[in-house]
Amino acid sequence: MPGRKNPHRWYHDRPLRQKLILSFLAVILGGGIVSLVIGTRLEHKTIFTLAETKVRHDLDAAWVVFQERLSHIRDVVRLSAAREFLAENIGNVRGGDLLHKLNDIRAEFRLDTLTLTDASGKVLLRSRNPEAAGDDESADPIVRRALAREVAAGTEIVNKDELMREGPDLAGQASFEFIPTPMAAERAGGREENGMVLKAAAPVVGPDGRLLGVLYGGLLLNRNFEIVDRVKDIVYKGEKYKEKDIGTATIFQGDLRIATNVLDDAGARAIGTRVSRDVNQAVLAEGRRYLGRAFVVSHWYITAYDPIRDPDGLIIGMLYVGMLEKPYVDLRNTVMGTFTLLAGLAVVVLLILLSVIAANITRPIGVLVEATAKVARGDLDHQVEIETGDELGQLAGSFNQMTEELRQASDSLTQWGRTLEKRVEERTAELRATQENLIRSEKLASLGKIAAGVAHEINNPLTSILINAALLIEARKPDDPDAEALNMIADETNRCAQIVKQLLEFSRQRPAQESLTDVNELIERTAQILEKQALVRNIKIVKVFDRSLPEINLDKTKIQQVFSNLMINAVEAMLPAGGTLTVTSKLDAAPGVIEIEFADTGVGIPKENLAKLFDPFFTTKTMGTGLGLAVSYGIVRQRGGTIRVASEIGRGSVFTVKLPVVEKQEEKDSEEVQYD
Ligand SMILES: Nc1ncnc2c1ncn2[C@@H]1O[C@H](COP(=O)(O)OP(=O)(O)OP(=O)(O)O)[C@@H](O)[C@H]1O
Ligand SMILES: [Mg+2]
Repeated sequence: MPGRKNPHRWYHDRPLRQKLILSFLAVILGGGIVSLVIGTRLEHKTIFTLAETKVRHDLDAAWVVFQERLSHIRDVVRLSAAREFLAENIGNVRGGDLLHKLNDIRAEFRLDTLTLTDASGKVLLRSRNPEAAGDDESADPIVRRALAREVAAGTEIVNKDELMREGPDLAGQASFEFIPTPMAAERAGGREENGMVLKAAAPVVGPDGRLLGVLYGGLLLNRNFEIVDRVKDIVYKGEKYKEKDIGTATIFQGDLRIATNVLDDAGARAIGTRVSRDVNQAVLAEGRRYLGRAFVVSHWYITAYDPIRDPDGLIIGMLYVGMLEKPYVDLRNTVMGTFTLLAGLAVVVLLILLSVIAANITRPIGVLVEATAKVARGDLDHQVEIETGDELGQLAGSFNQMTEELRQASDSLTQWGRTLEKRVEERTAELRATQENLIRSEKLASLGKIAAGVAHEINNPLTSILINAALLIEARKPDDPDAEALNMIADETNRCAQIVKQLLEFSRQRPAQESLTDVNELIERTAQILEKQALVRNIKIVKVFDRSLPEINLDKTKIQQVFSNLMINAVEAMLPAGGTLTVTSKLDAAPGVIEIEFADTGVGIPKENLAKLFDPFFTTKTMGTGLGLAVSYGIVRQRGGTIRVASEIGRGSVFTVKLPVVEKQEEKDSEEVQYD
């Protein structure tokens, strides 16, 4: 619809080639984006699932290290408690070298504390702080079990006072000022004074089997990096990514980092910072293992956290391992980047291919469009040259065929037009001839009436003049000078009488008196009359007769007059030089017509006179009346025949009379005269 704005116009009006490319491009890009998105998701999932699985196993490995250390302490304590010198010297802790021995063991097996109580749990000797003794440790869950003759071990929170008693320096080691951590949960107070301890206790039994006391030892985890670094070494083997340790491990006391190899921005161990709110909730509050991404201090890690429980099952802290997320992110980005780059490259290659394909598809269409335009401009000889066997090839074939048919139709139209023109011309000429014939017939008819009247009126006076002239001549002597004049009067009057006679003949509508006649004989008779004069005038008359002519019905007198007129005209046309008049008769059997031809070698007839030849009174002769041919024409026409003339200036003329063997009434009014 004209004027209506179609929102898709910008697409619809584009060349076919661009449309193809745009459509394909849309499909390619659409497909590409979808697969890119799906690919990213899948790839992300795969990479991070792998990472999570790994970190879960790492956490298990960290537990092994943790438990191993605890077992180690347990074994040291158990074996030491079983040594004889302990049972022997338990009654005399101040004397002897018990303190020495315990301190040796503590140093050798890297224990922070090693303390001996009596059988009721009252402290006998603290090897780290011998000054502090006499207090009751039986409330401690691990000591309590040892008092019940069990070897016990576990992780415990030890309060500040206890730490002070075990060794004032330990209280300092355990104490932390909280470092503000953005994502940590709210927590009252700003300090941690308690410590987290790996602790083991074993009963000391006398030779008689009596319980003498309890030996317990511990390792303060606060600021002790032995376990976390060991985890890092064993699990991650010191692997680094961009100068950062990939793997990290941490021991939390509550939500507080007390031992870690996670570094802060300054590169120091991030102890004193706290865990994020999410992890806090999941692990400390709900007692679950936490797996997933977590923001640790200053970077994103793929992490795993487990709660650490004391011997009573209370959650007192967490064990953590984590891998830097960055290498995985970078790996993903590299893979994605490569993928995207390849996809982009593929799009470019496809685009190039596409434009080549589109050009190949649309080129024949362009050729067709051009051809259509040419044909529309009228060039019907134009042929499209597409040799492919596909639809376009077929289209081109049909197009060529159509053009060919169009050309043929146009040719025959042109041809038809020409024929029509010719036919119109012919018809016009025929009409003109018919019209002329009509006019001539009219003329003849009216002239006949006048001539009859005039001739009748003139005949009597002429007769009277002639008689009187004869009388006067008779009355004169031969040498009378008036005799010549009188003779002339008589001659001229005779001539007038002759004209009048001819006029009468012309006008007389006497019915034809027909009888069976031999046409050859009729010609012969007419020629005889002329022959003498002709010979004198050096004119030869040649007769070529068809002897097989049938006799036909005709008015002898009238037809003889026609032959006579034509022969006289021929003779006169050859004067004074002389020549040959050839009279030929023949039969055209098919239409049943007898043809009589009068051919002279005379002067010929100028073209402009041909049409007037048969008009009454048309003559080129000083003494002629111009009625000879007019009368002959009338006679032949009455018989149902035709007169035709052909002539060439200087070479002669041929008059042809055609008489039908059987007279046909209707032919009388048409085509009486023909000019060649
Ligand atoms: N065979 C011929 N060759 C050349 N001209 C001819 C011939 N027959 C007729 N004509 C021309 O046609 C004219 C008309 O002829 P037509 O016989 O009617 O009259 P005419 O011969 O002139 O006179 P008339 O016959 O009365 O003596 C002639 O004057 C002559 O010019
Ligand atoms: Mg004549």
